[in-house]
Amino acid sequence: MDISTAITRRRATRAFRPDPVSDEILQRILETARWAPSGVNTQPWQVAVLREATRSRLTAALLDARAQGREPNPDYQYYPSKWVEPFRSRRKECGLRLYEALGVAKNDPAAREIAWRNNYSFFGAPLALLFFLPRGVATGSWLDMGMFLQNIMLAALDHGLATCPQASIADYPDIVRELLGLEDEPLLVCGMALGYADESQPVNQYRLPRAPLEEFTRWYP
Ligand SMILES: Cc1cc2nc3c(=O)[nH]c(=O)nc-3n(C[C@H](O)[C@H](O)[C@H](O)COP(=O)(O)O)c2cc1C
Repeated sequence: MDISTAITRRRATRAFRPDPVSDEILQRILETARWAPSGVNTQPWQVAVLREATRSRLTAALLDARAQGREPNPDYQYYPSKWVEPFRSRRKECGLRLYEALGVAKNDPAAREIAWRNNYSFFGAPLALLFFLPRGVATGSWLDMGMFLQNIMLAALDHGLATCPQASIADYPDIVRELLGLEDEPLLVCGMALGYADESQPVNQYRLPRAPLEEFTRWYP
C-alpha cells in the first residue's frame, strides 16, 4: 500500500474480529514503526504489548475503577477543560456519529456509559498496546511519541490490520503501572487496540470529515 493511501485509509476502528495477530506480524509492525523521527534521535517511546491474559486483567481493573466512580487521574491533560470553537463542534460531531453508528440515543446516558466502557476492553481487539514515556522527558518527546504512534497505525494497515488509539486507557495510570509492575513509573500516554477490523459493524462504516485546507493553511510569497 502506498503511503498516501495508507494515511487516508486509516481510521479509528472500534469493532474487531477475534482472529489472533501473530507475534511475528506485531514484531514487523514495531520494527517498521521504530524508524519514526525523534529529536536528536532520542527515541523516547516505550511499548507494552498485552496479550489476552494480561489484557483481560487490565480490562477488569479499569472497569472496576470506573464502576466504583473513581476519579480519573491521567499523567497529563489531553483535552481542554473548556471547549471553544471550532473544537467544540468537531468534538460534538465525533460523539454524535459514534453514538448514531452504535444505535445509542442522545438521551440515554446508561447506553453511552456501556459504549464508553468498550474502550476498556479495547473494543474486542486481540492485542492491546500501551505507550509510555520515561518520567521527566521534555515536551518535545510527546511529538516523537505521536509520530511513533502514527507509524504503528500505518504499518498495521500495511498488514491488513486496524487500530484505535485510546487516550481513555490513560485514565488510571497507577492501576496500569501496578498491574504491569512498572517500578520506574513511566508516564502512560495512551493505549491502542490492534487487530482485524470487523467491517460488518456500523461503527466501522462511517468516516469523520476533515477541515478543508483553507481553514488551517496560510501561504506566504
Ligand atoms: C491520541 C488519541 C487518542 C484517542 N483516544 C480515543 C479513545 O480513547 N477512544 C476512542 O474511541 N477513540 C479515540 N481516539 C480516536 C479519535 O476519536 C479519532 O481519531 C478521531 O475521531 C478521528 O477519526 P478517525 O481516526 O476515524 O479519522 C483517539 C485518537 C487519538 C489520536
